[in-house]
Amino acid sequence: MARTVVISGGGTGIGFATALAFARDGDTTVLVGRRPEALRRAAETVAGAVACPADLTRPEGAATVAELVAERFGTVDVLVHSAGGNGGLEPAAESGDPLAATAHDWTVNFRLNTLTAVLLTEALRDRLASPGGRVLFLSSIAAFRGSGSGAYAASKAALHPYAFDLARDLGPRGVTVNVVAPGLIEDTEFFGDSMTPERRQARIDETLNGRAGTPGDVAETVHWLASHAAGHLTAQVIQVNGGAERGR
Ligand SMILES: NC(=O)c1ccc[n+]([C@@H]2O[C@H](COP(=O)([O-])OP(=O)(O)OC[C@H]3O[C@@H](n4cnc5c(N)ncnc54)[C@H](OP(=O)(O)O)[C@@H]3O)[C@@H](O)[C@H]2O)c1
Repeated sequence: MARTVVISGGGTGIGFATALAFARDGDTTVLVGRRPEALRRAAETVAGAVACPADLTRPEGAATVAELVAERFGTVDVLVHSAGGNGGLEPAAESGDPLAATAHDWTVNFRLNTLTAVLLTEALRDRLASPGGRVLFLSSIAAFRGSGSGAYAASKAALHPYAFDLARDLGPRGVTVNVVAPGLIEDTEFFGDSMTPERRQARIDETLNGRAGTPGDVAETVHWLASHAAGHLTAQVIQVNGGAERGR
């Protein structure tokens, strides 16, 4: 039976690839992001997609998604949290003061990666299909290894205990909650223009299979975790990184 799948960050990268994977099954996807134009382009490509522009760092943004779901679908079968990033694409700190810049970096990352996922979850938790609902968070290899500044990694790691608590709360309703933690994934907007050939090669060299990941690698994992077959798998963090977290 066709399902309703809400995907934050569904207009680009991993979220978009995830929408394509569910659309193959005839599911209806609700694509959420801040840029209406990016969502419109994505919804034209993904069969059965509905664009829902919203800023998920704001309670009103999460409420907008919940209202659309309530009016059009009633319940959500699958909730995928792909909205996020390392803050590099967000407005820079206004002050050059080092402490102010640190406060900005940590605030931006926790709003972008943690708050977006928490607000949307809380807005939709009572509408999750019970039994059978699925919640999937996008974390990162950075949550295990650090990310340089620490802010991005910490904001992703914060999702893990939140997901575990949610899995405990929703388990009796027959809803599973899992986290997918990718390594380097190309063909997304994540890195902007900040990726150098040397940095890219260093990331690839860390993998055991000698390649970068694709949005499809992550989308297929999310799609399977949302399947009936994965019904006994909950409160787990699944790493999709070609073994890079173990390293060579
Ligand atoms: N690419 C990688 O190497 C990699 C590795 C590990 C983890 N990840 C994680 O995977 C997820 C998807 O990233 P990606 O690589 O696919 O990058 P991406 O193409 O930049 O996707 C991020 C999406 O999040 C949306 N978004 C950002 N802030 C938002 C907000 N406040 N409200 C609603 N939507 C928001 C963006 O759309 P708008 O800008 O229009 O809002 C964009 O569509 C992220 O959580 C990222 O941290 C990526």
